[in-house]
Amino acid sequence: MDLSVNYMGLKLKHPLMVGASPLVEDLDKVKKLEDAGASAVVMNSLFEEQILAEEDAKFRHEQDAVVSAEAASYFPDVDDFLMSLDKYLNQIAQIKKSTSLPVIASLNGVSVGGWTKYAKLSQEAGADALELNVYYLPTSPAETGREVENRTLEILKSIKDSVSIPVSVKLSPFISALPNYAHLLAEAGADGLVLFNRFYQPSINIEELEVASVIHFSDSSELLLRLRWLAILDATLPKMSFAATGGIHTAEGAIQAIMAGADALQMVSAVIRVGPSAIKSVYQGMVEWMEKHEYTSVDNMRGSMNLSSCPDASAFERANYMRVLRSWRP
Ligand SMILES: Cc1cc2nc3c(=O)[nH]c(=O)nc-3n(C[C@H](O)[C@H](O)[C@H](O)COP(=O)(O)O)c2cc1C
Repeated sequence: MDLSVNYMGLKLKHPLMVGASPLVEDLDKVKKLEDAGASAVVMNSLFEEQILAEEDAKFRHEQDAVVSAEAASYFPDVDDFLMSLDKYLNQIAQIKKSTSLPVIASLNGVSVGGWTKYAKLSQEAGADALELNVYYLPTSPAETGREVENRTLEILKSIKDSVSIPVSVKLSPFISALPNYAHLLAEAGADGLVLFNRFYQPSINIEELEVASVIHFSDSSELLLRLRWLAILDATLPKMSFAATGGIHTAEGAIQAIMAGADALQMVSAVIRVGPSAIKSVYQGMVEWMEKHEYTSVDNMRGSMNLSSCPDASAFERANYMRVLRSWRP
């Protein structure tokens, strides 16, 4: 049975990789992920703010400049970030040296600027590909949807100009016309689209009158949003590589995402909760299911339930919305 996939030109032995998270920070843990069968790892993100803060700190140190407390407080504390820039690049190099895992670096920022030079530095450190995450929340009523999209397109173009490794974009689902945006990203050079960024929603502590940040892990229900959009986008962009992130916990979910059009499947919450063995059990479950249903390769399944191949395309569209609402009776 052939579970290998081609994700943005990377030949992976199977689709299951570890998504962007601190799971890669400790080399011993990365080796355990490899032992558990992960086909690749995505690094935790290097943030634009982190890069600017460290470069500013370096500059201040070099210039021995006196900076006012107000200006210094503009940047987040360097300590707030998990890895320094050199450590980050070194970790890519170490993972490449000590394992045979393909490594996808992750850059996370919201503006075009010097920070994107870390794309090239990540490539030089050994990264096989790069994932760009533009986690941007518009708060101004003056900013249009197209302006928000252009922000990502411009960052993507500047990164593509500086590297030769493939570049994917981790998308937000909150876009009015995803197929159009996905085509613009393809034109701007995206080699892959990662569906979707999880927006960690702040809560409100009503006793302390504070906005509270909570991180919660996913469950399989989050996959449904990914399935719909994978199915729609895969049908309109047949040459694009797709990765699903968000809600991959079971073999059934993994197979659904592949049938919808995913080439790669990223797991984080399941690995944090269960440990590296989560990857092995999803893998084994996939193999068993494929044997039982006589699939000889992942390639045969991929996209078989996308919008242009599935028996009832309307199930992904508005018609299904009406059908579902009308199906319920008190
Ligand atoms: C603790 C933690 C840290 C994460 N760090 C990053 C990150 O640095 N960059 C990023 O793009 N996504 C990050 N994510 C999001 C994951 O890559 C992934 O997209 C999300 O958790 C959904 O996948 P899951 O359902 O398998 O958890 C993080 C998630 C968790 C739980």
